[in-house]
Amino acid sequence: QPVALWGGRFASGPAEAMAALSASTHFDWRLAPYDIAGSRAHARVLHRAGLLTGDELDAMLAALGTLADDVASGAFTPTIADEDVHTALERGLLERAGAELGGKLRAGRSRNDQVATLFRMWLRDAARRVVAGTLDVVDALVAQADRYPDAVLPGRTHLQHAQPVLLAHHLLAHAQSLLRDVGRLRDWDVRAAESPYGSGALAGSSLGLDPEAVAEELGFTTSVENSIDGTASRDFAAEFAFAVAMLSVNLSRIAEEVIIWNTAEFGYVTLDDAWATGSSIMPQKKNPDVAELTRGKSGRLIGNLTGLLATLKAQPLAYNRDLQEDKEPVFDSVEQLELLFPAIAGMLGTLTFHTERLAELAPAGFTLATDIAEWLVRQGVPFRSAHEAAGECVRVAEGRAAGLDELTDDELAKIHPALTPSVREVLTVEGSVSSRDARGGTAPARVAEQRDRLVARLAEH
Ligand code: ARG
Repeated sequence: QPVALWGGRFASGPAEAMAALSASTHFDWRLAPYDIAGSRAHARVLHRAGLLTGDELDAMLAALGTLADDVASGAFTPTIADEDVHTALERGLLERAGAELGGKLRAGRSRNDQVATLFRMWLRDAARRVVAGTLDVVDALVAQADRYPDAVLPGRTHLQHAQPVLLAHHLLAHAQSLLRDVGRLRDWDVRAAESPYGSGALAGSSLGLDPEAVAEELGFTTSVENSIDGTASRDFAAEFAFAVAMLSVNLSRIAEEVIIWNTAEFGYVTLDDAWATGSSIMPQKKNPDVAELTRGKSGRLIGNLTGLLATLKAQPLAYNRDLQEDKEPVFDSVEQLELLFPAIAGMLGTLTFHTERLAELAPAGFTLATDIAEWLVRQGVPFRSAHEAAGECVRVAEGRAAGLDELTDDELAKIHPALTPSVREVLTVEGSVSSRDARGGTAPARVAEQRDRLVARLAEH
């Protein structure tokens, strides 16, 4: 016999298609443990308000304990007649505590304040798992930076050779953005840590219940200031969806580079067999599918964010049933990330970098031209003319298919009188890299400091 939570004023039950449209247990059942935790806290405040005797509280908590066990073991599951997780668990409670006692728990709460609270609880736990998964990826990047502390590669802008940089510097750049994603989730948690429980349907409770006590028991910092806002707002979900979409975009940018680096034309890396796939027709293929799925799934996470924002944008206060659409996009984003994290960390951690190839390409494309200009500045030449002169060096070298370091003394002197042979001191990749030694630069000593600070921050998590 289905137990609707609102039978009284209805002469008939819902039409089948109405029930099918309404049902949400296929995705909100994961809130069940949080729902039961909320019920425990709610039973205690009902008791403190004199609405449950001590014996009734004990019996209620015992029934909720059995229900929690049966949910965990799978002995109790929702049926198609249960509208949502809250309805199903009310049925489970009535079965265990009896209709008389079980029917008392619903006083002073609504599914509106319940779901707003439970969704926050689920997301706060999910945020911790997402942080842990992100830190595994950061660990893999740091491990690779440590494995190749001296390797250089051509740093790029516009995908064109720009200036030589340390491979470790490049890898740590990705680690820095991932750590900001972690920081965003932690900042988010401060705002998500307010409990709407006790807001009722929208207006608050008349029964002398203590929302602060419920908030504390459920691990929140405080209860919401405003019951209307507590039940109607979902910016906590949208902000979370943004934080994880941004994270997925940052992972996608790493993935894109791995895909490029893995081409024959670049030849920077080899993928470990465990983290690559083959082709059903082309026997030679070894494809970077982990990276491609990472790039692909970022589109899905962006869609989850924009879909959620569109769901929210025209809803008047307070609760509207549209809000039932708030959960699946965010659940999906978390699910996709949990699939990705171990694969990305595995793929990145097992990449082999071809350091000879990287070193050969590092000075190619005249990446040391800026070093000539800056060397001239140190000789007192204004940067404007120094830039001109260095550009002319490139033109002359390019004209006879030579490197900048192969320009003759005469050629140099003809381009600019200040260009003496000692300019060649900076015309090596090592010289160029170690000259960029201000904080944040690519000089080995600076990169080592950056790495140590980053690892110290990791240890705080
Ligand atoms: N299942 C709903 C949700 O996820 C909560 C139920 C509120 N329903 C209602 N008729 N007020 O938002």
